[in-house]
Amino acid sequence: MKKSKTPKDSEIIMTEIVFPNDTNPVGILQGGRLMHWMDTASAICALTHSEKISVTASIDRVVFKNPIYIGDIVTIKAKITRAFTTSMEIFVEVKTRKIKNSTNKITNSAFFTFVALDKNGKPSKVPTLTVTTEDEKKEYANAEKRKIARNV
Ligand SMILES: CC(C)(COP(=O)(O)OP(=O)(O)OC[C@H]1O[C@@H](n2cnc3c(N)ncnc32)[C@H](O)[C@@H]1OP(=O)(O)O)[C@@H](O)C(=O)NCCC(=O)NCCS
Repeated sequence: MKKSKTPKDSEIIMTEIVFPNDTNPVGILQGGRLMHWMDTASAICALTHSEKISVTASIDRVVFKNPIYIGDIVTIKAKITRAFTTSMEIFVEVKTRKIKNSTNKITNSAFFTFVALDKNGKPSKVPTLTVTTEDEKKEYANAEKRKIARNV
């Protein structure tokens, strides 16, 4: 396992289409289904970075800005912002588009924290994160403030 990795090494882009059984009675994607997709994408990102089983420790505020309807195409992007000692913060952004319209709309975003576990289920060290772009450096610095604010 590498001692340090970049955000690109573990970036995940997952695409779904909304089917009737994903929606509520008026054809809008259920919030819980969307959170399941966000959790899956961010878990794969955390597993790829840590190369270990990683569990969801917390999810920061999720806002449902716009409804997502049956037939919409949903793209979930998960990117690590910072690796701490055993935990990793992952930023998840959700975009949607209509089949006949290539314009994507951002509908949701959230920060997930995952903790990597060893064979005994105990928190285990993860590779450090090497950031290079201005955005990556900004989120890396802000991740520390968010970790402190979570108070865990
Ligand atoms: C997450 C979990 C492994 C942490 O175990 P713990 O013994 O409390 O861990 P520690 O206090 O030693 O902290 C370990 C790391 O987790 C972080 N952490 C612990 N709880 C956290 C929380 N609720 N939110 C964010 N980070 C958290 C700590 O900040 C620490 O990070 P660091 O090592 O990078 O500094 C444990 O609480 C657990 O198993 N929770 C259930 C997870 C689960 O079932 N998820 C859903 C299914 S995937």
